[in-house]
Amino acid sequence: MTKVLVATEKPFAPVAVKGIREAVENAGFELALLEKYTSKAELLEAVKEADAIIIRSDIIDAEVLDAAERLKIVVRAGAGYDNVDLAAASARNVCVMNTPGQNSNAVAELVFGLLVFAIRGFYNGAAGTELKGKKLGIHAYGNVGRNVARVAKGFGMEVYAYDAYCPAEAMEKDGVKPVGSADELYSACQIVSLHIPATPETKNSINFELLNKMPKGGILINTARKEVIDEAGIQKMLQERPDFKYITDIKPAIDAELAANYPGRYFSTPKKMGAQTAEANINAGIAAANQIVDFLENGNEKFRVNN
Ligand code: 3PG
Repeated sequence: MTKVLVATEKPFAPVAVKGIREAVENAGFELALLEKYTSKAELLEAVKEADAIIIRSDIIDAEVLDAAERLKIVVRAGAGYDNVDLAAASARNVCVMNTPGQNSNAVAELVFGLLVFAIRGFYNGAAGTELKGKKLGIHAYGNVGRNVARVAKGFGMEVYAYDAYCPAEAMEKDGVKPVGSADELYSACQIVSLHIPATPETKNSINFELLNKMPKGGILINTARKEVIDEAGIQKMLQERPDFKYITDIKPAIDAELAANYPGRYFSTPKKMGAQTAEANINAGIAAANQIVDFLENGNEKFRVNN
């Protein structure tokens, strides 16, 4: 029987797993679950008989692909697929997909949860500031960026965006001011929210030189990827600019050091929480299950991301 494995180190909400199970079993397939695993060995064992795998930020590399001899498709229930070795998948004739847009509202809402926490001094009892009237820079205007813009307007913020791949008209239509470069965005905005993917081009691209362009009271919110941050640059910013705050949903390698040295100006969630809502889990998880069924039954490759 065709076997669909859900392999999630950070599990979906039970209600989402129920929906995934229904979609898989209604198609006559079998569902297997590997949740909260703590070693790669467990993943290597679980993938052995899988024809399809649903993952989140779980690492699918050549070793995992080699262990999964029957594998035809991997769906990353979410947006970023930097955790999957696309070339290795292509070489083994395995289709890789993501589920774009399905968890973006959840991530956008967390941006504001973190932002209010930051501008109110981490709820330390002292007078903070408000978002209304502040300039927000959205770095990359994809599904999450657009949701961030929508919520920011509700707060009465002035919204700017930079995205080399998104036409200015798409931003203007949303009441967002497009700028022509990252330099311009960081120079104009006191608050910047990062939504760039981790690619060879973006890795370490958010560095001291760029961040130091931010006006006084600068806040960087990262709900994207830790790899895009130049950690030495963030450290230097926190050291040289006592007005600067870095708030992240993805722990950097130097988390303990930053937390100890910059209390009240550095904060990281204990585990990436952006997409961790029942709604996002349901949307992304069930979309992944449906994409697998449609691929295996009809060959639909609409959301394929590898060659
Ligand atoms: C994504 O790329 O979809 C988000 O970063 C969410 O990742 P997660 O599913 O690991 O929470």
